[in-house]
Amino acid sequence: MADGQFVIIDGNELSFEEGETLLQVAARADIEIPTLCYDERLSPAGACRMCLVEVEGSRLMQPACSFKATGGMVVRTQTPKVERNRRFLLSLHMADTEQDRERAEDANPSRIFDLADVHGTAGCFPKVEQKRSGRPQDVNKFIEFRPERCINCSLCTRYCEQIEAVSAITLAGRGAETTISTADAKSLTDTTCELCGGCVAVCPTGAMTEKPALAYGKPEKELEKIRTTCNFCGVGCQLDLNVDREANRIVKATSPPPGTTVNDGSLCVKGRFANDFVHHEERLTSPLIRQEDGSFREASWDEALDRVVSGLQGIADRHGEDALAFISSSRCTGEENYLFQKLSRAAFRTHNVHQCAAT
Ligand code: SF4
Ligand code: SF4
Ligand code: FES
Repeated sequence: MADGQFVIIDGNELSFEEGETLLQVAARADIEIPTLCYDERLSPAGACRMCLVEVEGSRLMQPACSFKATGGMVVRTQTPKVERNRRFLLSLHMADTEQDRERAEDANPSRIFDLADVHGTAGCFPKVEQKRSGRPQDVNKFIEFRPERCINCSLCTRYCEQIEAVSAITLAGRGAETTISTADAKSLTDTTCELCGGCVAVCPTGAMTEKPALAYGKPEKELEKIRTTCNFCGVGCQLDLNVDREANRIVKATSPPPGTTVNDGSLCVKGRFANDFVHHEERLTSPLIRQEDGSFREASWDEALDRVVSGLQGIADRHGEDALAFISSSRCTGEENYLFQKLSRAAFRTHNVHQCAAT
């Protein structure tokens, strides 16, 4: 084989395509290289240095997430030097965010501690003085930014720019004062932000977090994830309802990992944040039937469905089937809409059926 077609990673001869990074080539061969600021949906930033590996002939270690493979390159990902760097970096990041795991994971899980479980640390370093400014005047109801936990990985700003195409947030300031800000440090609701919460989903430290869940006060790791289909529109995004079983409450919604469902790790503002209606005290929990005097009374599902059938059949008998019209909602799933048109066409024999997303 010609030199130009292969790299050697940990002794494995691996083929690659022009432009591929060492991380991509290694991942295909199930060689795991830890990352903190990498997301395969985004252009690499090379910000965290967790993915540094040894490349033969290179004096410095190189970031696998952005370093391109070239023919004949010899790479080592598990040497004592590489492992020492990982432990050292994790201790540094902890000193810059939160060194106590329980506090670090008071809301969202911490990728730093997950990595420390695997690679260890170099001990507890003195806490770094916090110079990043927050946005205390940001009165948006959904997203909290805690500057003391930010490690400037720029996952949130890259997500906002490259996936949401909004660029509501940016890295601002210099050196130790570099922080995540908006134009003129305005509230997110006074910017182009769509409150999609993608910045929260990608943040590895909990610096970006959900305000309602933070106020609720139970960490994500103590909640049970229930996979479901969002019913705000017909796209079929999958989301995980994070449920407090003891209180029987939905605390928040999170997106399943990128690459696993149709929404590829993203959600919109409704899917991510509009779930408190489930527990609203005025929410209907059983069918209501209108009585002779116009008031409603509670009924069983069987009784309510019988009433609907006899009402619709009565109209069809008196005025013909085309006197009926069936209008469904884009909030239903594709399957529900299919059944609805089947009800119209097969049971009531009319083509008067429509759905709001079709207009
Ligand atoms: S919520 Fe979405 S649009 Fe707003 S800053 Fe975060 S990623 Fe950008
Ligand atoms: S807020 Fe989170 S995602 Fe954004 S730069 Fe800071 S640590 Fe990274
Ligand atoms: S993952 Fe490569 S530098 Fe952060």
